[in-house]
Amino acid sequence: MKRNKTFNTFLMFIAVFMTLTTAYFVNKIALRNNVSSKYQAELNLYGARLSDKVFATVKKTEEAKRGNMYSTEYKFTISNIDSGDISNWKVFLAMPEGVKVENTSDVEFYNFGNDSSAVAFTPIYYNLSIASKGSIDFNVLFSSDKPYYPGNIDFVGYQLLYNYYTHINRTIGILFLLWMIAFVGFLVTKMNLRSYEEKQKNDVKLVLQSMNTFINFIDAKDPYTRGHSRRVAMYAAEIAKRKNLSEEEIQNIYYAGLLHDAGKISVPDAVLNKPGKLTDEERKLIQNHTVAGGKMLKQMSSLKGVRETALYHHERYDGKGYPEGLKGDAIPLYARIVGVADSYDAMSSNRVYRRHLNKDDIIEEIQRGTGTQFDPELVKYMVDMINDGYVNVVKMETADDDDQSNDFNITENDVPGVYMGY
Ligand SMILES: [Fe+2]
Repeated sequence: MKRNKTFNTFLMFIAVFMTLTTAYFVNKIALRNNVSSKYQAELNLYGARLSDKVFATVKKTEEAKRGNMYSTEYKFTISNIDSGDISNWKVFLAMPEGVKVENTSDVEFYNFGNDSSAVAFTPIYYNLSIASKGSIDFNVLFSSDKPYYPGNIDFVGYQLLYNYYTHINRTIGILFLLWMIAFVGFLVTKMNLRSYEEKQKNDVKLVLQSMNTFINFIDAKDPYTRGHSRRVAMYAAEIAKRKNLSEEEIQNIYYAGLLHDAGKISVPDAVLNKPGKLTDEERKLIQNHTVAGGKMLKQMSSLKGVRETALYHHERYDGKGYPEGLKGDAIPLYARIVGVADSYDAMSSNRVYRRHLNKDDIIEEIQRGTGTQFDPELVKYMVDMINDGYVNVVKMETADDDDQSNDFNITENDVPGVYMGY
């Protein structure tokens, strides 16, 4: 699920990138041939503002009269008063009856309309554009039967909307920059997380290697309880899970379960494996495995609750346990959980001095301990686990280790929650 999320985030980055790139090119292409503007105005002596982009003036430069005919030259000036070049332009001029274009300079002309009622002027050089804030001039020589002054003028041109174009591109640029920052941030975070996960896995490996060594020591002392540590760890972790503790706590409780009997190393073999009844002295030696375990695990302070669990897992809820006679909630939670799991495993496995009890007897025995030996809430979970068969799953999973080798090896897969999050 974590990997999917990372992948989805990555896809999202790619999608945004594609969108921005597409927007950039669409903008570029769409605006290349954009905007046709047709401006029309009546010219007068002062010129005409054809639109907010174009201004035109017309000035008489020469006038002559030959016979009945007038010959008049005018200079047209078209000014581009906006930003952005205007290209592909044409000027259309209405031609009253009796007026004709004789000659032009700088533009070509052709008659326009069915009855030549208009004339069009275009630049001689194809697509000569009028630069922003610039202007072009052209001269036209008219002949007419009476004095003539150019009147109605149409200007058609195409303008690249540089402002708009630049504006959009600038926005895309800024978005792209933001995208880059976010993407680099995302990659750096991912890389950090990966190295953190790797480090965490190595840490887990290190912990497990030390634990395996430790547990093999414990089991070597007491072959009858081989597999005990691992089963207790699994029961305890399951109780923690049913109690809705966090992944981290479940993991800690698992470790605490694995090491709860570490102190047994300090108990002499002869006492630990004695089949008959124990003397008071011997009982004390065995009971001392809690204190010895607590001392031994003092160094493992980085694994929360491990030391306390070894020290207090034989405390009783009514305060009649050992070594300190702690009562109720004064007994650390991990120790209470491991206490129940430990007792269940003792009842359900063969010991040097007795065979295991059957299921109903075990349930009865555990329930009898409610509030006296055990925390009542935890009894409930343990009995559920017996009834719904979870305990049998644990026994099956640990059976191989019991039968085939003297030492067993706990791997990352055995530890609950190791790969469930970080
Ligand atoms: Fe113990």
